[in-house]
This record gives sequence, C-alpha cells and structure tokens, in this order.
Amino acid sequence: MTPDRDRILHDLETLSSVGTTTSGGVTRLAYTSAERQAHDVVSRWMADLGLSVVEDHAGNTFGVRRRDGMTVLIGSHLDTVPEGGRFDGAAGVVCAIEVARLLAREGWPVSAFGIVAFAAEEGARFGRPLLGSSMAAGLMAEESLDTIKDSQGMTLRQAMHAVGIGGGPTVADRLRPLVYLELHVEQGSVLEEQTVKLGVVQGASGVCRLRVSLDGRGGHSGTAPMENRSDSLAAAAEIILQVEASATSTGQGSRGTVGAIRVSPNVVNALARQAVLEVDLRATQEEALSALQDRVIRAVRTVARRREVDARVEQIMFQQPIELDPAVRELLEGRCRVLGEPYRTIWSYAAHDAMAMAAIGKTGMLFVPSRGGISHHPDEWSDARDIELGALVLKSAVISLDERLRLGHDSLTP
Ligand code: HGY
Ligand code: MN
Ligand code: MN
Repeated sequence: MTPDRDRILHDLETLSSVGTTTSGGVTRLAYTSAERQAHDVVSRWMADLGLSVVEDHAGNTFGVRRRDGMTVLIGSHLDTVPEGGRFDGAAGVVCAIEVARLLAREGWPVSAFGIVAFAAEEGARFGRPLLGSSMAAGLMAEESLDTIKDSQGMTLRQAMHAVGIGGGPTVADRLRPLVYLELHVEQGSVLEEQTVKLGVVQGASGVCRLRVSLDGRGGHSGTAPMENRSDSLAAAAEIILQVEASATSTGQGSRGTVGAIRVSPNVVNALARQAVLEVDLRATQEEALSALQDRVIRAVRTVARRREVDARVEQIMFQQPIELDPAVRELLEGRCRVLGEPYRTIWSYAAHDAMAMAAIGKTGMLFVPSRGGISHHPDEWSDARDIELGALVLKSAVISLDERLRLGHDSLTP
C-alpha cells in the first residue's frame, strides 16, 4: 500500500476548516475551542482506524495500538499562530494518520505503535512553546501551570480547565515511546532552492524568550517638551532595533525578533507609560544563544538608563539547541536510500515538539519543502505529493524500528 495524496489533501482541508480566517490563514491558539475542535477531528480519525484514543493530562491526543507501552510514536501539533498557515503542525499529524491508515490496511505489521497530536506547541498565546509535549515528557513543574499566563492574565491551568483539560504535569508513563518521529514542513527555503523533497533533520536551534517591560513617566504629546522625556515606546523602538542588530552581529544562524508589543495607554496624544516587548532569540549553539541573550539584556539596560525608563527583563524560557539522535537520523537516511528518494541533511531554525520528546527518547525529524520558505503566514503552502513521500519514508521507518525494538536489537539500523 502506498500513501494517497488525495486522502492527505482531504484531511488537510478538513483540519484547515477548523479555525480558518478571512485571510485564508488559520487561528487555533493553545487551549482554545478551535484547537480542541481540531483534536476532536483527529480523535475521530484515530478511532476510525481502530486505535485506542487517549487524551493525556496536557490535552495531547494519542492514538495507540496498546495502552501498556509504545515502541514508536509519530505525530506533530495542531495549534497554530494567529493567522498562521495550514501546514505547520497539521502536515505532520495528517502524515501520521496516513501512515496509520496504511499500517491498518496491511494488518498492523507493527506491535506497539502510536500517533500523537500535541497541544500548545507554538507558544504564541502563552509565550512559551512546546507546552503540550513538555508536559507529556514530564519536563514541566506543577507550579508552572499557575505562573505561565497569557496576555490577558489567564493562567495555563485556567485556560486548560476552560476547555475541559485537567492540567497537572503528571506524566502518563505508558505514553512514552522509545522513538519519536515527526514530519514537519521546513518553514525555510533550503529544500526548495536545492529542489530536494526530503530533509533529514540534524538538529534544531535553541530558543530564548524574554519579556521586557519598560515603564516611563508618560505625559502629554503636546505639552511634554522634547528634552527629558521618559517615553517607554521610544525606548522600545530603540531596543527592537538593538535586538535585530545583536542577532545579526552574533551570526552563526542566530535570529532576534520582537514580534509582539503591548503599549499603554496606547493613544495618539499621550507618551507611552508602559511598553511590554516579547523577544524571541534563536541560535544553533548554546553559547551563542547565551551570548545573544546577554547582549540584548545589556542593550535594554543602556537604552533604559539613557531614556530614564525603568526596565524589567523576565526570561520566559531557554531551550538549548539539540542534535537529534544520530542512529534515528541514519535510519531515516537509510529508508530514503532504500526507497530511492534523494534527501539532504538539514538544520531546523524552528523549534518543534521533537525537542521536548528528545528528553525522554530517541527522536528524528523529516522535513518537506515549504513554498518560498513562507510560514506562520496565510500563504504557507506545501505540496501534498511531498507529504505523501514523507509518509512513505515514515511508514518504512516505523516498521523497521518497531521490529528492531520489539526484538531487542541494540542498534536501530540493520
Ligand atoms: O516558534 C517556533 O519555532 C515554532 O514554530 N513553534
Ligand atoms: Mn510547528
Ligand atoms: Mn510554528
């Protein structure tokens, strides 16, 4: 049995209709009804395949062959950024469903296999990514549920309860795989530029998220003289450019972005009393990420002092860069070769649930091309034929892995 791009397209269209917006994008924020609707759709697909459907304490949806253990788990996430694309996360979940469909039709030539749809991967609502997979991997302390808040001040626990999810970072051990595999759209343009359809991911950049609160005196835009102002928005503007300059000068694939800002009172004729910036830093090496964070914090202090605003910097999260498991990478590369499919090794500049799952098992990722490298945008697009190809490789890898793990082989590859 080979994967079927029409089924893949149909499933993608079904998921895209959940949270769709007038811009043609999709909005399914963490722990909102739109995200839960998407999980309901996928739960039904899992049940239709005869899988046991389990929702864990974090609202992740698992479809498993056996409830007492798992060799191989494949999947991705269902939440999106606001006005996001239809493929980020969804492509990996739909691919996992297609792999399960093929295995079911072949009489399940695997023993302890599962698929997963993770919740709350993006970090767009709560500032911190990989929430669902981090809770699944037991990486989050209970108190985090009450300290992590969205921009409206709702805690993670309140948001989870509001959509009927129990919360609590208790780890469901039986849902921990020996190997986790994820197909994801590249969200960059390397594969497209090199006309290669498959990317075997070597590792992923680290992510550091900071919240910078700037408090100024504010004032009347007409009566406050230009000298001696304490304008938190003008300070924010300088800092935003410093974040960009710091990442550019750090180099080594570093990235620095201020994608969100909240201003108060946010009116045309008053100097901003407060500006809160959400800073997203990335680097391929942990030292570079730490150095970049330090540069940004120093820049905040310097600008704040000169502009007489108070600055508070809060580290929301610091996720080290990770190398994915070399043996799993070798297995995926071997499967591509066996199938006669060209591939290339590729680095991920985006974060993925595989980074959390790497804490509890061996992990591997497969990328398929993103048109123009566009992502986190309504124009995000990938070809169902490439996802179909990815499903072929993943299915072959799942069968090979399950057999070797079940037979207790030390190495993952023959
Ligand atoms: O932010 C990221 O890298 C991912 O899209 N969550
Ligand atoms: Mn993603
Ligand atoms: Mn994303």
